[in-house]
Amino acid sequence: MSRLRTAILISGRGSNMDALIDAARAPDFPADIALVVSNRPEASGLSKAKAKGVAVAAVDHKIYAGREEFERSLQIVLETHRIEFLCLAGFMRLFTPWFIEQWRGRMLNIHPALLPAYRGLHTHERALADGVKIHGCTVHFVAPEMDEGPIVAQAAVPVLDADTPETLGARVLEQEHMIYPLALRLVASGTVQVAGNRTRGAATGSAPALVVPSAP
Ligand code: GAR
Repeated sequence: MSRLRTAILISGRGSNMDALIDAARAPDFPADIALVVSNRPEASGLSKAKAKGVAVAAVDHKIYAGREEFERSLQIVLETHRIEFLCLAGFMRLFTPWFIEQWRGRMLNIHPALLPAYRGLHTHERALADGVKIHGCTVHFVAPEMDEGPIVAQAAVPVLDADTPETLGARVLEQEHMIYPLALRLVASGTVQVAGNRTRGAATGSAPALVVPSAP
Protein backbone atom coordinates (compact mmCIF):
# COMPACT_ATOMS: atom_id res chain seq x y z
CA MET A 1 0.00 0.00 0.00
CA SER A 2 1.45 3.40 -0.92
CA ARG A 3 0.74 5.89 1.82
CA LEU A 4 -0.05 9.54 1.14
CA ARG A 5 2.91 11.68 2.26
CA THR A 6 1.24 14.16 4.60
CA ALA A 7 2.47 17.25 6.44
CA ILE A 8 0.73 18.69 9.48
CA LEU A 9 0.85 22.48 9.88
CA ILE A 10 0.63 23.80 13.43
CA SER A 11 1.02 27.04 15.37
CA GLY A 12 0.78 25.80 18.96
CA ARG A 13 0.57 22.79 21.24
CA GLY A 14 -0.47 20.33 18.54
CA SER A 15 -2.89 18.01 20.31
CA ASN A 16 -4.66 17.28 17.01
CA MET A 17 -1.23 16.72 15.47
CA ASP A 18 -0.58 14.13 18.20
CA ALA A 19 -3.84 12.36 17.40
CA LEU A 20 -2.96 12.24 13.69
CA ILE A 21 0.59 10.99 14.29
CA ASP A 22 -0.68 8.27 16.64
CA ALA A 23 -3.41 7.16 14.24
CA ALA A 24 -0.97 7.03 11.33
CA ARG A 25 1.15 4.49 13.22
CA ALA A 26 -1.42 1.82 12.38
CA PRO A 27 0.04 -0.26 9.54
CA ASP A 28 -3.17 0.00 7.52
CA PHE A 29 -3.45 3.80 7.84
CA PRO A 30 -3.43 5.26 4.31
CA ALA A 31 -1.37 8.38 5.17
CA ASP A 32 2.18 8.74 6.44
CA ILE A 33 2.90 11.81 8.59
CA ALA A 34 6.17 12.75 6.92
CA LEU A 35 6.59 16.27 8.33
CA VAL A 36 5.30 18.74 10.91
CA VAL A 37 5.77 22.43 10.10
CA SER A 38 5.10 25.41 12.33
CA ASN A 39 5.00 29.11 11.50
CA ARG A 40 6.09 29.66 15.12
CA PRO A 41 9.55 28.24 15.91
CA GLU A 42 8.64 28.17 19.62
CA ALA A 43 5.46 26.09 19.15
CA SER A 44 5.46 23.30 21.74
CA GLY A 45 4.01 20.89 19.18
CA LEU A 46 7.32 20.86 17.30
CA SER A 47 9.25 19.22 20.14
CA LYS A 48 6.40 16.75 20.68
CA ALA A 49 6.52 15.74 17.02
CA LYS A 50 10.32 15.41 17.15
CA ALA A 51 10.04 13.19 20.23
CA LYS A 52 7.68 10.96 18.25
CA GLY A 53 10.29 10.62 15.50
CA VAL A 54 8.61 12.86 12.94
CA ALA A 55 10.66 15.32 10.85
CA VAL A 56 9.97 18.94 11.83
CA ALA A 57 10.55 22.35 10.28
CA ALA A 58 9.83 25.94 11.29
CA VAL A 59 9.04 28.63 8.74
CA ASP A 60 8.78 31.77 10.85
CA HIS A 61 6.19 34.05 9.24
CA LYS A 62 7.59 37.08 11.09
CA ILE A 63 10.82 37.18 9.06
CA TYR A 64 9.02 37.56 5.72
CA ALA A 65 7.92 40.84 4.17
CA GLY A 66 4.48 39.50 3.33
CA ARG A 67 2.21 36.52 3.23
CA GLU A 68 3.27 35.43 -0.25
CA GLU A 69 6.97 35.39 0.60
CA PHE A 70 6.18 33.28 3.66
CA GLU A 71 4.07 30.87 1.62
CA ARG A 72 6.72 30.49 -1.09
CA SER A 73 9.25 29.43 1.56
CA LEU A 74 6.73 27.06 3.07
CA GLN A 75 6.02 25.62 -0.37
CA ILE A 76 9.74 24.95 -0.93
CA VAL A 77 9.96 23.09 2.41
CA LEU A 78 6.90 21.01 1.49
CA GLU A 79 8.30 20.21 -1.96
CA THR A 80 11.70 19.31 -0.52
CA HIS A 81 9.97 16.73 1.68
CA ARG A 82 7.86 15.50 -1.29
CA ILE A 83 4.64 16.28 0.57
CA GLU A 84 1.41 15.31 -1.20
CA PHE A 85 -1.23 16.33 1.33
CA LEU A 86 -1.66 18.90 4.14
CA CYS A 87 -3.54 18.83 7.44
CA LEU A 88 -3.93 22.17 9.21
CA ALA A 89 -4.13 21.52 12.95
CA GLY A 90 -4.40 24.73 14.92
CA PHE A 91 -2.51 26.58 12.18
CA MET A 92 -3.44 30.20 12.85
CA ARG A 93 -2.49 31.91 9.56
CA LEU A 94 -4.74 32.65 6.62
CA PHE A 95 -3.47 31.57 3.21
CA THR A 96 -3.50 33.54 -0.02
CA PRO A 97 -5.54 32.21 -2.96
CA TRP A 98 -2.19 31.24 -4.60
CA PHE A 99 -1.29 28.79 -1.82
CA ILE A 100 -4.81 27.41 -1.59
CA GLU A 101 -4.77 26.78 -5.33
CA GLN A 102 -1.48 24.83 -5.03
CA TRP A 103 -3.18 22.52 -2.53
CA ARG A 104 -6.75 22.51 -3.82
CA GLY A 105 -8.38 19.18 -2.90
CA ARG A 106 -5.25 18.23 -0.94
CA MET A 107 -5.61 20.27 2.26
CA LEU A 108 -7.83 19.64 5.30
CA ASN A 109 -8.51 21.89 8.28
CA ILE A 110 -10.10 21.27 11.66
CA HIS A 111 -12.36 23.92 13.16
CA PRO A 112 -13.78 23.94 16.71
CA ALA A 113 -17.45 24.47 15.76
CA LEU A 114 -20.18 22.92 13.67
CA LEU A 115 -19.57 24.83 10.44
CA PRO A 116 -21.02 26.88 8.87
CA ALA A 117 -21.89 28.15 12.37
CA TYR A 118 -19.18 30.01 14.26
CA ARG A 119 -16.50 30.59 11.69
CA GLY A 120 -13.47 32.43 13.06
CA LEU A 121 -12.22 32.69 16.62
CA HIS A 122 -13.68 32.26 20.13
CA THR A 123 -16.17 29.66 18.95
CA HIS A 124 -16.93 28.20 22.41
CA GLU A 125 -17.55 31.62 23.99
CA ARG A 126 -19.87 32.57 21.14
CA ALA A 127 -21.78 29.28 21.26
CA LEU A 128 -22.37 29.71 25.00
CA ALA A 129 -23.43 33.35 24.55
CA ASP A 130 -25.98 32.25 21.95
CA GLY A 131 -27.38 29.55 24.22
CA VAL A 132 -27.05 26.73 21.68
CA LYS A 133 -27.67 23.25 23.07
CA ILE A 134 -25.43 21.42 20.61
CA HIS A 135 -21.91 22.42 19.62
CA GLY A 136 -19.02 20.54 18.04
CA CYS A 137 -16.24 20.42 15.50
CA THR A 138 -15.69 20.04 11.77
CA VAL A 139 -13.01 18.70 9.42
CA HIS A 140 -13.27 20.26 5.97
CA PHE A 141 -11.30 20.80 2.78
CA VAL A 142 -9.77 24.27 2.65
CA ALA A 143 -11.36 26.77 0.26
CA PRO A 144 -10.37 30.41 -0.37
CA GLU A 145 -12.96 31.75 2.11
CA MET A 146 -12.02 31.31 5.77
CA ASP A 147 -13.54 28.21 7.42
CA GLU A 148 -15.32 27.21 4.21
CA GLY A 149 -14.98 24.19 1.97
CA PRO A 150 -16.53 20.74 1.59
CA ILE A 151 -17.13 19.10 4.98
CA VAL A 152 -15.64 15.65 5.54
CA ALA A 153 -16.63 14.95 9.16
CA GLN A 154 -18.40 16.57 12.10
CA ALA A 155 -18.95 15.61 15.73
CA ALA A 156 -21.55 17.14 18.02
CA VAL A 157 -21.53 17.42 21.80
CA PRO A 158 -24.25 18.59 24.18
CA VAL A 159 -23.83 21.97 25.85
CA LEU A 160 -24.25 21.54 29.63
CA ASP A 161 -25.78 24.08 32.00
CA ALA A 162 -22.54 24.42 33.95
CA ASP A 163 -20.30 24.76 30.88
CA THR A 164 -17.63 27.42 30.62
CA PRO A 165 -15.73 28.01 27.37
CA GLU A 166 -12.96 25.84 28.84
CA THR A 167 -15.13 22.83 29.79
CA LEU A 168 -17.06 22.99 26.54
CA GLY A 169 -13.85 23.41 24.57
CA ALA A 170 -12.32 20.38 26.29
CA ARG A 171 -15.34 18.25 25.37
CA VAL A 172 -15.14 19.44 21.76
CA LEU A 173 -11.37 18.85 21.63
CA GLU A 174 -11.86 15.20 22.63
CA GLN A 175 -14.08 14.85 19.57
CA GLU A 176 -11.57 16.71 17.36
CA HIS A 177 -9.05 14.00 18.23
CA MET A 178 -11.54 11.37 17.03
CA ILE A 179 -12.74 12.92 13.79
CA TYR A 180 -9.47 14.27 12.37
CA PRO A 181 -7.83 10.83 12.04
CA LEU A 182 -11.14 9.47 10.73
CA ALA A 183 -11.40 12.21 8.11
CA LEU A 184 -7.78 11.81 6.98
CA ARG A 185 -8.27 8.05 6.70
CA LEU A 186 -11.40 8.50 4.58
CA VAL A 187 -9.80 11.04 2.26
CA ALA A 188 -6.36 9.41 1.95
CA SER A 189 -7.91 6.03 1.16
CA GLY A 190 -10.06 7.60 -1.54
CA THR A 191 -13.23 6.49 0.24
CA VAL A 192 -14.52 10.05 0.39
CA GLN A 193 -14.56 12.33 -2.62
CA VAL A 194 -15.48 15.96 -3.16
CA ALA A 195 -18.69 16.53 -5.10
CA GLY A 196 -19.33 20.26 -5.48
CA ASN A 197 -19.57 21.74 -2.01
CA ARG A 198 -20.22 18.33 -0.44
CA THR A 199 -18.21 15.18 0.09
CA ARG A 200 -19.63 11.71 -0.36
CA GLY A 201 -18.67 8.08 -0.10
CA ALA A 202 -18.38 7.52 3.66
CA ALA A 203 -20.64 5.03 5.39
CA THR A 204 -22.93 6.99 7.68
CA GLY A 205 -24.13 3.99 9.71
CA SER A 206 -27.13 4.39 11.95
CA ALA A 207 -25.95 6.81 14.63
CA PRO A 208 -28.88 8.01 16.71
CA ALA A 209 -29.83 11.68 16.69
CA LEU A 210 -28.28 13.79 19.45
CA VAL A 211 -31.21 15.46 21.23
CA VAL A 212 -30.45 17.97 23.98
CA PRO A 213 -31.90 18.10 26.60
CA SER A 214 -32.69 14.42 26.87
CA ALA A 215 -36.31 13.46 27.56
CA PRO A 216 -37.17 13.19 31.30
C1 GAR B 1 -8.10 23.22 17.97
O1 GAR B 1 -9.22 23.33 18.82
C2 GAR B 1 -8.47 23.55 16.55
O2 GAR B 1 -9.75 23.13 16.20
C3 GAR B 1 -8.38 25.06 16.57
O3 GAR B 1 -7.25 25.34 17.33
C4 GAR B 1 -7.06 24.31 18.29
C5 GAR B 1 -5.65 23.78 18.17
O4 GAR B 1 -5.37 22.89 19.19
N1 GAR B 1 -8.28 25.59 15.25
C6 GAR B 1 -8.79 26.77 14.90
O5 GAR B 1 -9.38 27.49 15.66
C7 GAR B 1 -8.57 27.12 13.44
N2 GAR B 1 -9.47 28.16 13.05
P1 GAR B 1 -4.20 21.86 19.06
O6 GAR B 1 -2.94 22.67 18.73
O7 GAR B 1 -4.10 21.24 20.42
O8 GAR B 1 -4.54 20.88 17.99
